[in-house]
Amino acid sequence: MDRSKVYLSWEVDGKFHSDGREVALLESIYSRPDIDQLRGNPQKVLQAIDDFARSVTGLINIGETKGAVVTKLITDYKPDSILELGGYVGYSAIMFGDALRKAGGKQYHSVEKSPLFAAVAASLVDLAGLRDVVRITVGTGAEGIQRLYDSGALKSQLAMAFFDHHKPSYTSDLKRCERLGLVGPGTVLVADNMILPGNPPYAEWVRASVAEKQELDKNSEEKGNPNLQYNSRSIKSWEPSGNEDALEITECVGVKA
Ligand SMILES: C[S@@+](CC[C@H](N)C(=O)[O-])C[C@H]1O[C@@H](n2cnc3c(N)ncnc32)[C@H](O)[C@@H]1O
Repeated sequence: MDRSKVYLSWEVDGKFHSDGREVALLESIYSRPDIDQLRGNPQKVLQAIDDFARSVTGLINIGETKGAVVTKLITDYKPDSILELGGYVGYSAIMFGDALRKAGGKQYHSVEKSPLFAAVAASLVDLAGLRDVVRITVGTGAEGIQRLYDSGALKSQLAMAFFDHHKPSYTSDLKRCERLGLVGPGTVLVADNMILPGNPPYAEWVRASVAEKQELDKNSEEKGNPNLQYNSRSIKSWEPSGNEDALEITECVGVKA
């Protein structure tokens, strides 16, 4: 990790977000003298967000280093669409929406609980010229998945899903996708923050065998589809804060009959 690229601390007076910094980010970006060069340029918009996080206040974005790992996955797997849970100010939606478009994909669905963060993200996505690719849905992961499914926007099996929202909801939201038939052979699941702060229930579910998942499901109120066979691996990388973290990359490789 290049130490000169480390973000300022996320924590300011005990807060990690929602202290005005997200609106300040928007104002700072639109008052840049080079704003016209940012229009339609995802990489320059990402750089502008990084500049703010390095010089004004830290932001809870995935950042360049972990982001590059996911971008490479998108380039390799070439998903036609991606579902993201947890959009914040749109950094990952811009980075991965751009990678998706370059790989020939069509739609990046970003679900974000906070209407304010979603509004900031929508403005930055539009600035980056990705309005046709990135669709932002306001709601919790569970609400967003269900609404997108009911409306037909998530019609068939997911090609890729990115979990970066409320850590205890990763497992229940994945199980909802499984129950709805949105996960099947070929689906790739990417989960952030597997070290910082870590997510043992999610790691247990995606690393378990079918027999182990059948047992886990018996004792859980939230049912998934234990018959889905997963190959899962952890990739260590770096937070933009300079701390070590890991992504869990899980591929669905089959369904036990
Ligand atoms: C770590 S940030 C996401 C960062 C973003 N993916 C990026 O890298 O640019 C987590 C986001 O999840 C949102 N969030 C929290 N609980 C949620 C939930 N249950 N469903 C959807 N979003 C949620 C928060 O408002 C916050 O914006």
